[in-house]
This record gives sequence, structure tokens and C-alpha cells, in this order.
Amino acid sequence: MFLSGRDILSIHDLDPEEVNSLLDFAQDLKSDYIHGGFTPDFLKGQTLGMIFEKSSTRTRVSFEVGMYQLGGTALFLSNRDLQLGRGEPIKDTARVLSRYLNGIMIRTFGHDRLVEFAKYASIPIINGLSDLLHPCQVLTDLLTIREFKGKHLHNLKMAYVGDGNNMANSYLYGAAKVGMTLTVATPKSYKPNAKVLRQSAADAKLTGAKLNWTEDPIEAVKDADIVATDTWASMGQEDEHEARKKIFAPYQVNKELLSHADKRVIVMHCLPAYRGEEITEDVFEDNAEIIFEEAENRLHMQKAILSAVMG
Ligand code: CP
Ligand code: NVA
Repeated sequence: MFLSGRDILSIHDLDPEEVNSLLDFAQDLKSDYIHGGFTPDFLKGQTLGMIFEKSSTRTRVSFEVGMYQLGGTALFLSNRDLQLGRGEPIKDTARVLSRYLNGIMIRTFGHDRLVEFAKYASIPIINGLSDLLHPCQVLTDLLTIREFKGKHLHNLKMAYVGDGNNMANSYLYGAAKVGMTLTVATPKSYKPNAKVLRQSAADAKLTGAKLNWTEDPIEAVKDADIVATDTWASMGQEDEHEARKKIFAPYQVNKELLSHADKRVIVMHCLPAYRGEEITEDVFEDNAEIIFEEAENRLHMQKAILSAVMG
């Protein structure tokens, strides 16, 4: 397949054609599945290991079901049960698991853990979320945007409002690759990662994408076709939750903020959502059709990613 043997650690590592191929491929797999009721058995006899050092609903279930539908198997490997959780080095775990498995998806804290894993593994490594990035989710979101707003992503204006976290960072990389206009609004002390801002700005020059950061949520959503948000306290930041609620209050996605966006604006959320915090109940429910299609699309995008790198 077109990404055979590659790791998917960051959208930054893919070229624009590869991103578009993944989006087209996921759309085809979705269409086969929805309209034809089938999935090609591209991964017959293959096994994916799924290492989780953090909780997950969507990522775990969509990867596991995706492998099954592609004719393969998935193993859930909790950090609590692996020797990795007792201190066995990443470089040893990576070399051992490479002897049993055909690919590994990892959800972890420090992105450097993923990079080290990928360095020592001889099979594809997929980032199922790190503190820095969530590439599978953002590829899914681009697929969802194409479905609701059309394929020409470079004509669209998107705003991300909230914490400059793994989602914000991956939106920057994603928008840069597909030539979209993206404005990220965060408090000054919670800006997206500085290296991601630099690299995505360089990527954007190649596609004509327009990327901006602002402290002002109203400026960000002005005339936006898409507004996305995410939790104000990511996994691992639970202790900061109460303090963050105060800091981020002006960044809530509510009806008043959306009155500055395009009339046909769609709101996206990777979930889990905290109603009354980053998004109000009414805005969430008004956009439930989009948000749950976005959740479903994790399955179709995982199948595209798995087939592309393991097939
Ligand atoms: N959006 C997302 O990654 O959800 P999970 O944490 O449930 O996997
Ligand atoms: N930013 C969130 C995303 C959850 C899917 C987190 O890292 O917890």
C-alpha cells in the first residue's frame, strides 16, 4: 500500500499528497462499508498491538473493530499489565513486540516515548495520542469536514478555540497540509507548541494554507465555516482542571461566540466533551449529527491508516 512500513507519528511527516490519499482512501472504505456492507480483508492474518498508557473509548474501539473488519486481530495492551509499566525499557519492548506483531498503536504521555518506540521497532508505529499530537483524530476531522463542507478544503475557514493542546497542534499540521485557513485562539500562556507553530507555518507555504494564532476568540471565529474545540484539561492535567476553568472561561464555544461565525458554521469536538466548560449543551446538541459522524469516522480513518501502513 501507499504508506507501507511507515510510522504515523505526526501529520507533519506526511506530504500533502499522502494526506489527500488517506482522506480519499478512508472515504472509499466508508462508502464500501456503508453502502456495500463490506470491508476488503487487506490485513488478513495480521495482528496490531495497542498500548494504552491513558484511557480511551473511541481510539481503542475503532482500532480494534477496524482491525477485525480488515481481516486481522488487535491486542489490547494496558500499561498496567505490560512489563513496560514496571520499567522495562521502551527500546527492549519495541524490539520484542516487533517479533510478534505487524504494527503497534500507542497512546502515551511524552511524545518522545513514541519517537523512541518507533526508532527501535521494525514494524509501523501509529500515534494514538500523545501530549503533543493526536494525528489520527485530526485526519478523521478533515474527512468529516470534507463530508459536511465539500472536498475543497482550501476554500474553508476554520477556527480552533480553547487550549493549545495536542488537538490544536495537530490541526495546525493538518490545515497546513490541505491548504486550509485556520485560526487558533488560546490564552497567551496556553499557545500551541512553538516548534509546531514554526513547522506548520513552513508547511503552509507549500500549500497556500493560512495559519494564524490570536488571543481573541471572536477574531478567530469571524466568518468561520468550522469551529472546533476540545477539553480545557487534557489527560494528565486533572489537577489543573479547576484553575483552567477560570482561565479558559472566555474561550467557551457558545451561541454568542458562534454569532460571529458564518451562518452555516459547523461545530466539531473530538470528545469526550465537558458541557458547560469548553462547549455549551445547546451548541453541542445542535451539532450532534456532525460530532457523532466525526466519532464514527474514527473507524473509517483507522482502517485507511492501518491498511496504508500495514498492507
Ligand atoms: N477522541 C478520542 O481520541 O477519544 P478517546 O480518548 O475516547 O479515544
Ligand atoms: N486533548 C485531549 C484529547 C482527548 C481525546 C486529551 O489529550 O486528553
